[in-house]
Amino acid sequence: MAVVIDGRETARKKREEAALRAAALKKRGILPRLAVILVGEDPASLSYVAGKEKALAGAGMESRDIRLPADTPEEELLSLIAGLNADPSVHGILVQLPLPGHIGEDRIITAIDPAKDVDGFHPVSAGNLVLGRPGFLPCTPRGILVLLEEAGIPTRGAHAVIVGRSAIVGRPLAILLARRDINATVTVCHTGSGELGRYTRQADILIAAAGKPGLITADMVKEGAAVIDVGVNRTPVFPPGPGNGAPPAPENAAGKSYRLRGDVDYEGVAKKAGWITPVPGGVGPMTIAMLLLNLIQAAEAAVPGGAAKA
Ligand code: GUN
Repeated sequence: MAVVIDGRETARKKREEAALRAAALKKRGILPRLAVILVGEDPASLSYVAGKEKALAGAGMESRDIRLPADTPEEELLSLIAGLNADPSVHGILVQLPLPGHIGEDRIITAIDPAKDVDGFHPVSAGNLVLGRPGFLPCTPRGILVLLEEAGIPTRGAHAVIVGRSAIVGRPLAILLARRDINATVTVCHTGSGELGRYTRQADILIAAAGKPGLITADMVKEGAAVIDVGVNRTPVFPPGPGNGAPPAPENAAGKSYRLRGDVDYEGVAKKAGWITPVPGGVGPMTIAMLLLNLIQAAEAAVPGGAAKA
């Protein structure tokens, strides 16, 4: 049976680290502050944003919550961002994605001051990542690197296979895993790859980030591999609510009509893998913890006369 990688515990340690660094900044009169912008009322986004704001408060940091109606014009969002860019009391700006269809996500992300791009989505951040320069790393890839390190999973000389080539997970992660200090050999699979198992069975480290529930089954996994599940697929539960025989999940207990499923068939794969991350409780909590550390990085960089580490 695979070792279950406890993302909640690792995330708790990282949030603690963020809290200590936030306290050190506060002693110097700086209160790290993140502006969190949510346009519309997408239920998943509402839940993610609430999680981020709770984590910020828990680590002694501020959030400025900005809620806008779904029909907010793009121009209005751009001028809001310009104001936040110019506000020295705001160290980070997060625009929750996806945005309503009439708003150009690229234009919005590019409007954020790269010095406040704590999501690591701005083209300047992406460029710095590719060039190996200092900058903000996107939170989910950064969280995965921390999980691999904390779990003691060897990366040097390992073959890492990533399923999914999204701009916020698959592509940045491929570059990070091939970095000299990590030294994995990386394969990126996508919808054009044909039979996935051909590649995934070669993986020492398998990262599933395709957004397809249960995509990775035991026959696609090499014995002893580390399997990292990035999927957070909300799958419907019928009838909605508790007491319907669905697998236990906090969502059902709360009377919601979905449960979270990863991209990995957990039950089957856990019998074969060497390590596995659960969903929920694996990668997800790490993403939020890394957001806190990115905000600290932004606030420390804004300290006059240089960084203010504890
Ligand atoms: N939507 C889903 N994940 C994310 C994230 O990490 N950041 C932002 N801004 N939006 C998201």
